[in-house]
Order: sequence, then C-alpha cells, then structure tokens
Amino acid sequence: MSFQMSAAAVVQQRQWLLLLSMKLSGGGLLQLQRRQIIIATQQQPIHRREKQMVDLEKIISLCKRRGFIFQGSDQYGGLQGTWDYGPLGVELKNNVKRAWWRRIVYERDDMEGLDCAIMMNRLVLKYSGHEETFSDPMVDCRKCKKRFRADQVDPNEKCAEGDKHDLTEPRPFNLMFKTTVGPVADDNNIAYLRPETAQGIFVNFKNVLDSTNRKLPFGIAQIGKSYRNEITPRNFIFRVREFEQMEIEFFVKPGTDEEWHKKWVEDRYNWYVSLGIKPENLRKYEQKKEELAHYAKATVDLLYRFFPEREDENKQFDEVEGIANRTDFDLQCHTKGGKLVLADGREIPNQHAVNKLTYFDHETNQHILPYVVEPSAGVDRATLAFLMDSYFEETVKDDQRIVLRLHPELAPIKVAVLPLKKNNEAIRNTAIQIKNTLMKKSGWRTVYDDTAGIGKLYRRQDEIGTPFCVTVDFDTLEDQSVTVRDRDTMSQERVKIDALQEYLAAKLGNC
Ligand code: GAP
Repeated sequence: MSFQMSAAAVVQQRQWLLLLSMKLSGGGLLQLQRRQIIIATQQQPIHRREKQMVDLEKIISLCKRRGFIFQGSDQYGGLQGTWDYGPLGVELKNNVKRAWWRRIVYERDDMEGLDCAIMMNRLVLKYSGHEETFSDPMVDCRKCKKRFRADQVDPNEKCAEGDKHDLTEPRPFNLMFKTTVGPVADDNNIAYLRPETAQGIFVNFKNVLDSTNRKLPFGIAQIGKSYRNEITPRNFIFRVREFEQMEIEFFVKPGTDEEWHKKWVEDRYNWYVSLGIKPENLRKYEQKKEELAHYAKATVDLLYRFFPEREDENKQFDEVEGIANRTDFDLQCHTKGGKLVLADGREIPNQHAVNKLTYFDHETNQHILPYVVEPSAGVDRATLAFLMDSYFEETVKDDQRIVLRLHPELAPIKVAVLPLKKNNEAIRNTAIQIKNTLMKKSGWRTVYDDTAGIGKLYRRQDEIGTPFCVTVDFDTLEDQSVTVRDRDTMSQERVKIDALQEYLAAKLGNC
C-alpha cells in the first residue's frame, strides 16, 4: 500500500490586490457570493511527499499517544480483550455509529431502530442455538500449558518450553458470558450477555411489527455492545471480548430474498467507500457452500486490508462486516410452536415462546414467516478500518507530518481555533469567542488550543484528523477575518468571521 503524491503551489502573500482587482472587474452572482466569504487565498509553498505505510503498530501507538484508545483496566495491568475509548476515540466511534444510523435509519423509508437489553433470558439463547453451538474449537499445549483457538495456532510454531507445541485434540469452548440475575445464584437464574445484537431484534419482531404497522419488506436496526469470551483476543480492537455491533435484520417475502441480499451487499460496500475507504482496501468475499453456516443461503463478507504488512495479499484482508441471507431460520427458532434445527439435523421444538412471529400477507391471505437478510458490522473493526485507511505520513518541506485524512463526518474534532499569539489578550479572546460561537451555532466539536506555536498546533490537529484550523492573528483585529487552513491541502484562505460558519458548513457537509 504505497501512494505518492507531490504538490507545489505558487507562493502568494495575502492577495489583497487580487481581491481589489476582483472587486473592480465585477462578475456573476456565484463569484460575488464567493467573494463575500473568501477574502483571499494564501497558498503556501508546499513541497510534499506523501506515503501511506500503515500497520497496526503505528495505529496502536497513535491511538495511545493522542487519546483515541487505551488498554482496558490499564491502571491494574489491563484486562485482556478489552479496550477503552479515550477523548478522541469516543468522538470517532460515535461518529461512525451516527453515520451508520443516518444512512440506515434516517435516509431510508423501510427501517426502524431498536435498542435492546444486553442481558438476555437464557431461553433466547437456547432457542437461537447459541447455548448448544456458539463455540470455537479449543486446544491446549501439554508443554507450555497455553490455550489456543485450534484454527489460529500453527502446531509447528515454537513452544516456550522448547521445540514445537504438543497440542491436545480440539474441543468446543462456548463463547458466551454466563451470569446469574437476582440475589439467588442458581441454575434457574442463569442469563447471558448477548453475543450479538441480532437476537434482540428477532425476539422483538412482533412488538415492532404491531407497534409500527410496517409492511414487508422492512428492517430493524440496532447498535450496541456484544460479548464473546474469545479464546485468543488479538490484534488490538480487531478481536476483543467486549465490542459493539451495528446490525440490520431486513425482513422480506420469501422469493425476494436473493435480490435483497444483492442490494444490501452493494449498499453496505458503498457506505464504507462513501466515507473514504479506498476501494483497493475493501473486498467482497462470497462464502463458498462449504463455508456457509448451515442455515445461511448465501453470505458475502466485506473484507478490509487490516494487515497490510503480511506477505500473502489474501491474508492481508479480514472481515469488517458480513451480509447473510438467513432465510426464515431465526423467526422459525423463536416463533411459538417453532423449532430450532441444528447443523447435525437435530430438531429442538420451541416450548416456551409466547407469540407467533408470523406476518399476515394481504396479497395471499396467508400468515408467513418472513425471510431475513442480515448486514452485520463491527463498530470497532469499522473504526479501525477508517483509522488505518486515513493514516498518512508526509514530508513537507523536510518536515515530517502524520495526517489522518478522515472523512469530515468521522473526524473527532471538526474545527480547531488557534491564536497566533497566545500572550495577546485581544487575539486570545477573539479566538475563544469564535470557538464558542461556532460550537453553539453549528453543534460541531470545536476546540481552542494555545499550548504551542502555530506550526506545532497545525501538526497536532493534522495527526488527529481535524479538517480545518482557524487562525486568529493581528490582522483579524483590524479586518475581522481569519485564516482557514485545510488539513489535506494545507492551503489557506482568508475568511470574514461573520461568514465563517457558512464557509465551513459548505465544506464539512453532513456533520
Ligand atoms: N449476527 C451475526 C453476527 O454476529 P459475526 O460475523 O459473528 O455475525 C458480525 O459478527 C461482525 O461483528 C463481524 O463482522 C465483526 O466486525 C464484529 N465482530 C465479531 N466478533 C468480534 C470480536 N470478537 N471483536 C470485534 N469485533 C467482532
């Protein structure tokens, strides 16, 4: 993954003369509007060499240094498979979720939202099949006593106790976190932390249907935490024990499922690309028949290049989202009088569900079990993909900068307001006032920073992906204008303070 670009721009100090000549030469309405907002363009002499050479190590280091993501329970040596999102991380992750919710729930006419409890009645996970089958194959090394997921350990790799591992036969290890609810900790009070948000949607199918009067096709979307006791959590936030999912269950009439599955694959792929993921780093992988879960008719995984350092290009990619055609398997498991059919053919009749999860089809005058298409994404993996894809190292006039070219909608901070001289009270107060006004009027996360010289402040904002810096200088006090610097091009424009919000809004779009 390497990408080189150079840009050189003509040096022009403030273009007051240009402005004057524009004013004199007249022009159309557009030009006039632009002139009212942008007073002058200051282009810097930018000699830039840009490289995208990113790997997980660099992202982990940036995340810790700048407050995106920390090890969970760090103060006590950590808790494996957990991560805490810091001041910038929580903004980024919230923006990822907001962008998804906007696209999925607000911009479509066929979706409803939902937010279910994380603790679930044991019966939900019994009839979904999780209690019986949600496990990974686990092996132990008889020499070093370590545990591994059977498909993730190379039996020939070096063992800490010398030579190679001596592995046991694989046995299933259930990934669900079990707990008890209430003051009596016995088998009657067992509950699970949900291992996916999907089950909450299935068991609420009738509640949503009855309360909204939806007609097929329609979907239910949910974002929330899920828990899996992964045998070997690894690769930063890629595989963890507590994570978030953004899941859709899209209910359709049987017979239309294949068409809807294809539509969702395209829609979900396009979502990542629309937020800046480079197509060369995102693949669609159609699971082969022998890879499919026994209930799935088809599954396409979206794979991101999480491991660019790996030699074999195919191994560089791993799943960020799966889009499955699950037929009526889930509603069949949970419907009153339904049954769970396991991979080995065994059938478990549902003796506890209280409602039929059917839909009355007015065209055929029949009660049917809808089919479901499920696009299921990991929030943490999507966040990691956006971080990795936006990471660039650049040499600018022999100076190094790291820049996160995050899509403005995802950037944790939209605008930083910086005083050129922090010891000048008038400059400082003007900058603080601009920051407060922008924040109040637009709702953008806007910050004020005067803790270093302007060059350093720019670099710090570049490194966390802030699309625009607004600099207040001595001229601001005279002409009520500020310099707006673009993160990506580093070009600068002089903008009137009272036109600043309009100017930034046009560039920030859906923020
Ligand atoms: N309801 C279907 C389902 O949960 P999944 O493939 O097991 O399917 C969906 O999970 C997505 O959730 C994955 O594509 C991944 O992004 C995320 N995910 C799953 N397990 C994860 C883990 N241990 N850590 C981080 N993300 C995980």
